[in-house]
Amino acid sequence: MSGVPSDRVLLVGLGKERELGESAFRKAIDTATKALRSTGATEATFYLADQALRKRDTAFKVEQAVLGIMEGMYRFDRMKSKPAAEPKRTLRKVVLHVARRGDIAAGEAAAARAMAIAEGVHLARDLGNLPGNICTPAHLASEAQALARQFGMVCDVLEEKELAKLGMGAFLAVARGSRQPPKLIVLEHRGAKKKDAPPVVLVGKGVTFDTGGISLKPAPEMDEMKFDMCGAASVLGTMKAVALMKLPLNVVGIIPATENMPGGNAVKPGDIVTTMSGKTVEILNTDAEGRLILCDALTYAERYKPAAVVDIATLTGAMVIALGHIATGLFANSDPLARELLHAGDVSWDRAWHLPLWDDYQEGLKSNFADIPNIGTRAGGSITAACFLERFAKAYPWAHLDIAGTAWKSGPDKGATGRPVALLANFLARRSA
Ligand code: BES
Ligand code: MN
Ligand code: ZN
Repeated sequence: MSGVPSDRVLLVGLGKERELGESAFRKAIDTATKALRSTGATEATFYLADQALRKRDTAFKVEQAVLGIMEGMYRFDRMKSKPAAEPKRTLRKVVLHVARRGDIAAGEAAAARAMAIAEGVHLARDLGNLPGNICTPAHLASEAQALARQFGMVCDVLEEKELAKLGMGAFLAVARGSRQPPKLIVLEHRGAKKKDAPPVVLVGKGVTFDTGGISLKPAPEMDEMKFDMCGAASVLGTMKAVALMKLPLNVVGIIPATENMPGGNAVKPGDIVTTMSGKTVEILNTDAEGRLILCDALTYAERYKPAAVVDIATLTGAMVIALGHIATGLFANSDPLARELLHAGDVSWDRAWHLPLWDDYQEGLKSNFADIPNIGTRAGGSITAACFLERFAKAYPWAHLDIAGTAWKSGPDKGATGRPVALLANFLARRSA
């Protein structure tokens, strides 16, 4: 081709410039990368970030381009006996072209940050995609320990005996039915200049398989309940991104990890347990297990005197009904914290939507026999679940991200998305700036 210094040119149609949105931009990059991959090209220069999305700055476009490219490069074939056929040569180097010389510094910083985030997303997707027979609570614990070794973080794994000593009756009630021992995984990044600065604590739901327990789930799509540890995976992915970015911030990841299984020793509907907080809970449905493991983890978080606590959980099927697969549900007891997270979701294009936690909704949580039941009214199921958690999060500013609709995709492209690692990494990067 005359006047073009490249062997090949890939043209990507983006439609009308004025109508091009952020999601289409991201999709275009992902699709272009997949097309490039099939050609066997080893190097490519992208000019996509030049003209598009005039409302967004270079940093946004470069970050999204890098995340889109890394998304297009992602494969999960480690469980196949032979990896899928691909050209021998693969894309090794990508250059992103920015419009002005003055944008280079911002572009390079954004690219470095995005590569760290992409690594975190990659880890979260891999852990999510692994089947429940491999990704057990012990597996999550060893992944956390590997991260600690690699990045000089501090990792502590609490075993069943210690959980009993702490009085984590709700967490242990969920774990009872399983042959796999539960683990409470604690991973600390100590990056703050002031060593004892209050940390941000991330708490991730780590149910490595959710059968529902005695309140057994129906068979269709039950395989997808291997993704019920995607909150935990997002915590590990975010900790990896935080370590790679060397954020000057203290961050603690806490992961209650267990299976939820039926069996002769399993917890039964009507059973009453005492949580670490001292409150008693009547377990009316053993399938509402996420809140039972999270409530004890939230109480455990108090010992860090945190600046803020954010829990991340595939908590309710109702979330999929409310917001579909686009936005993560956000709940908070602090409006400034909610605004920070919403903003981080917008600038990382990993969006969340704020839902109410008004007192009126708490009325759905009444038990005749214990302090509180583990399920509320069916109406507004995601909100009553958040209300349950709120009762255990009084000691600090707290937010809850319900990622039931956003952590994985169903259908032919079934697989973990790595959300909301980008949101969380941006939130923490902004806090440390
Ligand atoms: N892990 C599920 C939530 C879930 C279900 C996420 C389907 C994504 C898709 C959670 O533990 C659960 O089972 N929740 C119950 C709560 C109910 C018993 C109050 C639900 O949503 O049905
Ligand atoms: Mn469940
Ligand atoms: Zn669950």
